[in-house]
Amino acid sequence: QADLRSQMLEINKQAAKYYYYQLKSERGQIAYEYLRNRELSDETIIKFGLGYSNKFSDDLYKYLKGLGYSDGILKESGLITMDEKKGSYDKFWNRVMYPIMDVNNRVIGFGGRVMGDGMPKYLNSPETKLFDKSRNLYGLNLARLSRKPNMLICEGYMDVIALHQAGFDNAVASLGTAFTGLQANLLKRYTHEVLVTYDSDEAGIKAALRAIPILKEAGLTAKVINMRPYKDPDEFIKALGREEFQKRIDEAENSFYYEISIMERDYDLNDPEQKTKFFNEIAKKMLVFTEEIERNNYIEAVAKRYKIEYDNLRKLVNRYGAQL
Ligand code: UTP
Ligand code: MN
Ligand code: MN
Ligand code: MN
Ligand code: MN
Repeated sequence: QADLRSQMLEINKQAAKYYYYQLKSERGQIAYEYLRNRELSDETIIKFGLGYSNKFSDDLYKYLKGLGYSDGILKESGLITMDEKKGSYDKFWNRVMYPIMDVNNRVIGFGGRVMGDGMPKYLNSPETKLFDKSRNLYGLNLARLSRKPNMLICEGYMDVIALHQAGFDNAVASLGTAFTGLQANLLKRYTHEVLVTYDSDEAGIKAALRAIPILKEAGLTAKVINMRPYKDPDEFIKALGREEFQKRIDEAENSFYYEISIMERDYDLNDPEQKTKFFNEIAKKMLVFTEEIERNNYIEAVAKRYKIEYDNLRKLVNRYGAQL
C-alpha cells in the first residue's frame, strides 16, 4: 500500500516533468504563448511547474511505459485512461497543465486548461488514492511559507498564480469545489484569519456564503474581499495592479456585515413590512454571537449602519434569544 502510494507520487512527478518539457519544446510554443498572454513570467511558470499536454493522444502513456510502469498503476494514477476497444490514452490532451501539490510539494494531481473556449474549461485529475480534493488547497505548499498575517482563499488556479506573482504569497484556492471543514482545519495550522477572495459573480457569492460558517466553525476569523467591478483576483490584478489589490485587502469586510449585505438584496427597505422582516432575520442571525459584549457590539454597529434605534434592535435580538 505504502509502495503503491510512493509509486503513484513518482508517476505524477515524472508526468509533471514531462509536461514541463513539452511546454518548453517547439510543440509547446502555443501553450507557452498562452501563459505569456496571461502575463505570467518565466519565473512564475517555473515556480508553479506549469506545463503542456500535447496533441498526441498517447504520448504520456508511451513515455511512462518506457519508464517501466505497469498498466495497472498507470490507470490508478488517473493520468491514463484504459479502454478495451480504444486502448490506452492520455487523459489530458492539448491543455495547459497545472500540477497540484500537497503541503510537502509532492504532485498529487493535475488541472488542465483548454487554450480556447472548449469544454470543460478545466479538466482535473480524478480523485485517486493520492488526490482527495476536499483535503487539499492549491498553492498551500507555497502560501504556508508566507509571512503575511492571514491567508487569501480564492477560486481558481490562475487567481492563486496571479496573486503570488503580484507578491500576495499567501493565496490558496479551493479549485471550484465547495470549501470543506477539512480545508478550514488545514488553513488553521498556518493562520488565524482568512480573507475570502472568491469571484464576484453569483456563483462566487454563493460559495463565499457557504465558506464563511465553515471558517468560523473551525475557529478562524473570516473576512471578505470585494473584487468588483472585476470578476476575479486575476482579472483585478491585471486591470488595477497590486497597490489597488492591497487596498481591497485593507478594506476587507467583516463576514457578518457581508452576510447581511447579501441578505439585504432580498428586501426592499423602503417598504416597512419588508424592512421589519429584514431586521428580524438579522436579529436571528445575531444569536451566533454568544458573548454578550460581542453581540452588543454588533447590535450597535448594525443599528448605526441602518439608522435604527439600538434599543429596538437589542429587544428584538433578546426576544429571539429567549426562545432558545
Ligand atoms: P472559474 O470558472 O472562475 O475559472 O472557475 P477561472 O479560475 O477564472 O479560470 P480562467 O481565469 O478562465 O482560466 C474557478 C475554478 O473552478 C475550477 C478550476 O479550478 C477553476 O480555476 N473549474 C472551473 C473546473 O475544475 N472545471 C471547470 O470547467 C471550470
Ligand atoms: Mn472529496
Ligand atoms: Mn468562478
Ligand atoms: Mn479567471
Ligand atoms: Mn474565475
